[in-house]
Amino acid sequence: MDINKIKSKRTKVMEYSALSELLRVTAKPEIVSLAGGLPAPESFPLEVIGELNDLVLKKYQGTALQYGPTNGVKELRIAVSDWLKKRHMKADPDLIGITSGSQGGLDTLGKIFIDEGDAIAVESPTYIGAVDAFAPYGPRYEAIDTDDDGIIPESLDKILRTNKIKFVYLIPTFQNPTGRTIIWERRKKIAEIIKKHRTLLIEDDPYNSLRYRGVALDPIQTLAPENTVYLCTFSKVLAPGLRVGFYVAPKKVADLMVAAKQSVDLHTSSYSQYLATEYLKTGHLKKHLPKILKMYKSRQEAMFSALKKYFPKSFSWTKPEGGMFVWVTGPEKFDSLALYWKAVENHVAYVPGTYFFTKQGIGKNTMRLNFTNADEKVIDKAVKKIADVIKKNL
Ligand SMILES: Cc1ncc(COP(=O)(O)O)c(C=O)c1O
Repeated sequence: MDINKIKSKRTKVMEYSALSELLRVTAKPEIVSLAGGLPAPESFPLEVIGELNDLVLKKYQGTALQYGPTNGVKELRIAVSDWLKKRHMKADPDLIGITSGSQGGLDTLGKIFIDEGDAIAVESPTYIGAVDAFAPYGPRYEAIDTDDDGIIPESLDKILRTNKIKFVYLIPTFQNPTGRTIIWERRKKIAEIIKKHRTLLIEDDPYNSLRYRGVALDPIQTLAPENTVYLCTFSKVLAPGLRVGFYVAPKKVADLMVAAKQSVDLHTSSYSQYLATEYLKTGHLKKHLPKILKMYKSRQEAMFSALKKYFPKSFSWTKPEGGMFVWVTGPEKFDSLALYWKAVENHVAYVPGTYFFTKQGIGKNTMRLNFTNADEKVIDKAVKKIADVIKKNL
């Protein structure tokens, strides 16, 4: 049997990822990896989850392990709606849907909206997982100009004026990979532009709760709720392994989300959904989140000071007020991809920035560093090792 002869065009797109090849080596125990985007396992509230497990089984009994509704269990949709009030979002529980992580939401949105050749407007660089989720449907990308304050609204306006765009995909807060946040003035302008062009915004907001300093900004969804699908997740505030995310969508999109998700997995794990429900309802999120913030703030500060101590003066980096990543930019001649294997020989890994761009060949002088999944000492050591490799080869 020749599988190559029968596989679909979609599969060919999904099959090979140069980045996965590159990152495979980071699984080796001798490698200190600042490459992944993982939360710290020591941030997971194990005891709380144990308690909630007992509570869920007692309170919901067989229902916690039974098939459930595709849009998610009602108790969780109500609890999420309450939680989102803190972000000044008016989210009717009927317009909320539960997904298997926000990644599940991205995949469903791709399925609903993208036909081959359709254009999507994205930040440049953007989240690789979204590009991977959309890839099987064959889109092309229009990159929105970006600076330290996020996307430049005039650039978005121009793209929407001159292209037929299916939707705009943004990560406005503590973006992956750059850590950048779109400032409030621009959020207002973006909402106006989206409404003016009667287009759809997908606002991916997994890092919203991970703010270590500064003032919280309301999501763009609050300014254009009829034009926005808002995605968020429990992965960064509870545990990613439970695979619980959610969306808030305009009614017509919410209906399509249910239709598209049903054939994929019927629904997200009922048990995980009830755990998440009780995590919110019993006030455990409120108690636990400050512990996560304290841990990550200190790790982020360790990364900032290590970068300052060890990196050449010709390098700069973002200084996000939260999130999980720092984005480093070197001089033009710096090629982070070319140096990657030398770094690995030195037992340290990062993600070469070029992979986050939808256009090939740009961003060679950039890299993404994660600071959440290593302690302060390890971060210091790893940043020094990367700096040593750079200094030897620049
Ligand atoms: C921007 C962004 N969106 C979505 C996700 C997916 O998260 P999850 O599926 O765990 O909710 C991630 C994970 O790192 C991310 O960085």
